[in-house]
Amino acid sequence: MIERAKHLASIISKHDEILVVTHIDADGVTAGAIASAALDRLGKEYSIKFVKQIDDDVLKEILDANPELVWFTDLGSNVEGKMNRIVTDHHRFNIKFYDFILNPHLFGLDGSIDTSGAGTTYLVARALDKKNVDLSALAIVGACGDLQDYRYCKLVGTNRQILKDGVRVGVLECKIDTRYFGRETRPIFKLLQYATDPLIPGLTGNEDACIAFLVEHEIRLRENDLWRRWIDLREEEKRKILSEIVKILIRKGFGSAFARRVIGEVYLLSKEEEGTELHDAKEFATLLNATARYGEPEIGLKVCLGDREEALKRARSMLRKHRQSLLEGLQFAREEGIIKRDFLQYFHAGEGIRDTIVGIVAGILLNSGEVDQDIPLIGFALTEDRKVKVSARGTRRLVEKGLNLSVALSKGAKAVGGVGGGHDIAAGATIPIGKEEEFLEVVEKEIKNQLLREVL
Ligand code: C5P
Ligand code: C5P
Ligand code: ZN
Repeated sequence: MIERAKHLASIISKHDEILVVTHIDADGVTAGAIASAALDRLGKEYSIKFVKQIDDDVLKEILDANPELVWFTDLGSNVEGKMNRIVTDHHRFNIKFYDFILNPHLFGLDGSIDTSGAGTTYLVARALDKKNVDLSALAIVGACGDLQDYRYCKLVGTNRQILKDGVRVGVLECKIDTRYFGRETRPIFKLLQYATDPLIPGLTGNEDACIAFLVEHEIRLRENDLWRRWIDLREEEKRKILSEIVKILIRKGFGSAFARRVIGEVYLLSKEEEGTELHDAKEFATLLNATARYGEPEIGLKVCLGDREEALKRARSMLRKHRQSLLEGLQFAREEGIIKRDFLQYFHAGEGIRDTIVGIVAGILLNSGEVDQDIPLIGFALTEDRKVKVSARGTRRLVEKGLNLSVALSKGAKAVGGVGGGHDIAAGATIPIGKEEEFLEVVEKEIKNQLLREVL
């Protein structure tokens, strides 16, 4: 991968004007920021374009702009046709081998665990100039945004090498702590209330129960007129809470491997102020999603590039709305009802959930244990241009049994004239309206084949 990164860096060096095309999520924004910073430092002229996905319309726009060189980040491996381009991506793809692509799947590595779009982009930035090692912090934010730590409760493979770079130059720190979201910014009872991986029976989703739990274990909720956050707790208080959660999980019949997921590695951006959304990589990633998934990726990009005034303020206010939208989305999906079939389950949100967050909603629902975890969950939502956005999420156990949602969704989409792809554990597609049932039939048949292949 490093050799390929050097090769791509040498292509960049030969061009003066570059169009960066990237994805509208946390990994895409950090990838775009890394590419921008690297090009800026080289004194290249560049512009950046954010897209939901690559389809014919997007390709046409790019070709019409006729840039000297296109740099696709966090997407683009599947783009066919003639175009002067390089690609730093991590999605599964099925075209012939091209030497202008840097993608872990080309090297037998898993793109949902080993490296993200920001990570592959970082490797090229580092190959352009050693000074770019400080950008490793953004690469780790991107990896966390794509949940690349999900499988092992820590980053592994190439991500780990990138982490080492960051630790070495003092922009990253890595420590063992709770994996629950919001360590730095949320009141502790909120952290527990929104705990989904692993969920805490009796506490998740129940504010009163979370407060009662903390009171029962003599954890003070407030100090100096402020809500105490996880980072305000003393070590023995943290230990107490975590061991009580593990006890609850074991008592409820969850295995110890599952219960152990309460702790894992957390990644801190050393140059950022403690107690802000920017200090913890997961919280930083969520802040970026709150901009990019609502049509304002430039705000997130500015935050990545160092704006701590106007852009950060806007991003924070968007984060509050993002939380609200997620809660409403979850509620909507529950009320709409999840329809179970033999090899998948789904909900159709119509216009009730924004197409850009239906995947996050599906992921939270599946992880929360509210729905059957033995089959994948698919969410549908309508897009502004009257198409159907599909998001599918699976579990680690299903992937171990052979599930590959990327293959299933791309087959299903192709059968009904849409496009789809992604990773084995999480994939997406866009299909024409009214084709949902036909799509589901193809996808279900493929999932059935995947899951029964080993049995038969
Ligand atoms: O487009 P991209 O590769 O950047 O996004 C990966 C997607 O996969 C993210 O939406 C992430 O949340 C999702 N994912 C997941 N479960 C995992 C790993 C990734 O839902 N275990
Ligand atoms: O949009 P969603 O979060 O469901 O996407 C899950 C994964 O599938 C992401 O990695 C995304 O980039 C990928 N995807 C894709 N092609 C699409 C839609 C999503 O590769 N048409
Ligand atoms: Zn990505």
